[in-house]
Amino acid sequence: MSTPDFAKHGLLISPIENGTVIDHIKSGEALNVLRILGITGTTDKSLSIATNVQSSISEKKDIVKISNMELSKDDVNKIALIAPNATINIIRNYCVIEKIGVKIPDLLMGVIICSNPGCISNSNEPIDSKFEVVDGNLHCLYCDNIISSDIANHII
Ligand code: CTP
Ligand code: ZN
Repeated sequence: MSTPDFAKHGLLISPIENGTVIDHIKSGEALNVLRILGITGTTDKSLSIATNVQSSISEKKDIVKISNMELSKDDVNKIALIAPNATINIIRNYCVIEKIGVKIPDLLMGVIICSNPGCISNSNEPIDSKFEVVDGNLHCLYCDNIISSDIANHII
């Protein structure tokens, strides 16, 4: 039996008509990206996810395509924390109309849960958490706690 044409052309996931393509996600982080966007298994959105796609000779990447959804600034900041090389492409009528490179902000307000249970940002006070980003680590400005690993699990 001969190989079908589509297999030879390596089509992995189709282009989308309208929505957002989050490309160049660090491989293995696609499901974390969905989680921080609040997208779960019961979503009614049309999604395509590709993981461990060959991106260059040595690198692999994940891609997430979400139809009919645009991201907020907070969403973009959260994605930067777990996928600092991600590119966010806004698609309209099949064309890339905007390409946004993510950038980790210097200050994160109300985005991270402090891992110190005694931190005032974890009390019942109406206080937003406040973290400064230093060399990829998160420094709580209330209690000086440092979060340096498993950042995805501390994102609100
Ligand atoms: N894409 C899509 N649907 C479209 C247009 C683009 O899913 N209608 C996807 C492409 O598959 C790609 C991403 O959006 O994953 C960016 O598209 P494009 O800018 O055309 O690709 P590149 O030039 O390869 O982007 P980059 O330089 O950022 O790698
Ligand atoms: Zn704290």
